[in-house]
Amino acid sequence: MKKITIAIDGFSSCGKSTMAKDLAREVGYIHIDSGAMYRAVTLYAMEHGMIEGSVIDVPRLEADMANIRITFELNEVTKLPETYLNGVNVESRIRTMEVSERVSLIAELGFVRQAMVALQQAMGEQKGIVMDGRDIGTTVFPNAELKIFVTASAEVRAERRYKELQEKGEHADYEQILQNVKQRDYIDRHREVSPLRRANDALLLDNTHLTREQQDAWLKEQFLLRVKE
Ligand code: CDP
Repeated sequence: MKKITIAIDGFSSCGKSTMAKDLAREVGYIHIDSGAMYRAVTLYAMEHGMIEGSVIDVPRLEADMANIRITFELNEVTKLPETYLNGVNVESRIRTMEVSERVSLIAELGFVRQAMVALQQAMGEQKGIVMDGRDIGTTVFPNAELKIFVTASAEVRAERRYKELQEKGEHADYEQILQNVKQRDYIDRHREVSPLRRANDALLLDNTHLTREQQDAWLKEQFLLRVKE
């Protein structure tokens, strides 16, 4: 079977990472959550005093980009990749509301996108990769053999994120999450560099009414069609 590249893009909290993870595990591909990379840059900026409220010290962050090293390592217990920032595991710290509230502002910056896209393209050189994000099918891997654009209603997405945070025992406020989901959708769609949009050749998947099993089955079917071509 030939190895392909799979690009999964879509709105915030629509289950892209879950479906990407499930497929990668099933077919033995590498899964890269590109959002985790923007989240790690955001955490770095926060921890180095480069963000005050919603104001970013852009020149300082730009000057410091070369000092930000993002890698993924497999957790031997869960068998899932986790995000490392300069050698430190930041997987849970990048998922907090504080990071969610600032990440889209960081992801708007052209120099941040340039650095992340270069890293993502290097990770995908050997194919056999499932990457999820906002610009994977349009900018990172425009030649990906399989492109999916996922969407679901904002309320359903907020509900899923709410449950996810609750299950992890973290503070969760549904209204705050819904507002965050809508705000990120807006910023992601309207930014100048690589705005979120469906690539012309991406398949549209609205999973508002699909279970995880149903969407996994659908994705596997699309994958098998592509590798047999
Ligand atoms: O999982 P969730 O939908 O909450 O978001 P994520 O995939 O972790 O991404 C967090 C944020 O990073 C998004 O809201 C985007 O602003 C940004 N992002 C991006 O600009 N480009 C990507 N390829 C991935 C994420």
